[in-house]
Amino acid sequence: MLNDMTIGIIGGGAMGAGIAQVLTTAGHPVRLLDQHAGALEKAASGLEANLRKLVEKGQFTPEAASAAAARLSLTTFLPDFADCELVIEAVVEDLAVKQQLFRDVERVVAPECILASNTSSLSLASIAAACRRPERFIGLHFFNPAPLMQLVEIIPAVQTRAGLADEVRALVAGWGKLPVIAQDTPGFIVNRVARPFYGEAIRLLEEGIADMATIDWALTALGGFRMGPFALMDFIGHDVNYRVTESVFAGFFFDPRYRPSITQKRLFEAGYFGRKSGRGFYDYAPGAPTPAPTQDETLGHLVFYRVLAMLINEAVDALALGVASADDLELAMTKGVNYPRGLLAWADALGAARVLAWLDALYDEYHEDRYRASPLLRKMARTNQLFLPHERLAPA
Ligand code: NAI
Repeated sequence: MLNDMTIGIIGGGAMGAGIAQVLTTAGHPVRLLDQHAGALEKAASGLEANLRKLVEKGQFTPEAASAAAARLSLTTFLPDFADCELVIEAVVEDLAVKQQLFRDVERVVAPECILASNTSSLSLASIAAACRRPERFIGLHFFNPAPLMQLVEIIPAVQTRAGLADEVRALVAGWGKLPVIAQDTPGFIVNRVARPFYGEAIRLLEEGIADMATIDWALTALGGFRMGPFALMDFIGHDVNYRVTESVFAGFFFDPRYRPSITQKRLFEAGYFGRKSGRGFYDYAPGAPTPAPTQDETLGHLVFYRVLAMLINEAVDALALGVASADDLELAMTKGVNYPRGLLAWADALGAARVLAWLDALYDEYHEDRYRASPLLRKMARTNQLFLPHERLAPA
């Protein structure tokens, strides 16, 4: 029933095209708009190629794939959105452009049409402020590539009407995605909680405590993460990863906990974006030597627990400040971005007192605000409480 809803997507780039695939395969009629006809053609041919691959893999019948492709219509003309019940915007990350777009959209759609933005760094309140009916506006943050990444963060703005986040959550779950609800704060859930994975790893490198191959080895072999922080930053691209760090730092009024690193900024400035440019932290040129980790377990554990303590502290602070529920924090980091376990469950397994002791030792060593423990972590350590119900505790 809900999948009959006609959905408009604005922006046919990487994200808009990916979201179009999610929605057409979920059964929705989709109108995809871009200001460049070329972007639309690329999006449509990309969708067809992806559907063909799904058929080859046996995940889709040829009939289902052609039905999905037929649900997509392309346009450069906004009045074609008149019958849309949901419009998702995925254009360039520019506040003025997005605000103007929603003003234009509101002239075309019905008053009850839901308006959503896929912004990754702007505040939803600032975009909603341009709307005549901001109560029907919400953030809908997909991850790249949208068809493969399970997580979708739903972010109500302060103007969003009560109940809309839950309605959108049910809709997103119907697309086979994993929706979580996040407060309209910098980085939402994932781009905030994951910051220390990169930032603390670079700090360890800058201080000469360990080399990057050893840090990557510690987090994967000892920590169970799928990729080490340096390999992952190179994979994401420093153009993207560095900019996210900068925007979260600015968004938090320059809280030192989120301070970007000079080391990464230099890679960004040099155009050493990582895998896609052949060089980042690592050198991807053919025949370039792969640095070997020292595999020193004592050093590896020091590295792993320092990064982990910072990650746990970030998750606990997000919980303390109401950024998301404990369940959504755990879902976002495990199912959404494949952390080996939820950070709150990890805190419970290790004991809040132990994590607090690591952080306080770092604070004593450096006297930097970066290492201040969340008051909630301190309280849980003092009162010997768990973040999650007992029965969900798996062995460490
Ligand atoms: P992109 O640059 O690949 O695509 C943007 C598309 O929007 C282009 O095809 C462009 O022609 C079109 N466009 C720009 N202004 C327009 C307008 N006024 N009217 C109609 N079309 C217009 O960008 P991408 O990567 O798809 O990002 C889009 C949005 O999604 C941004 O807000 C970004 O922050 C967000 N996002 C990006 C992620 C990523 O990893 N690329 C992940 C999650 C969110």
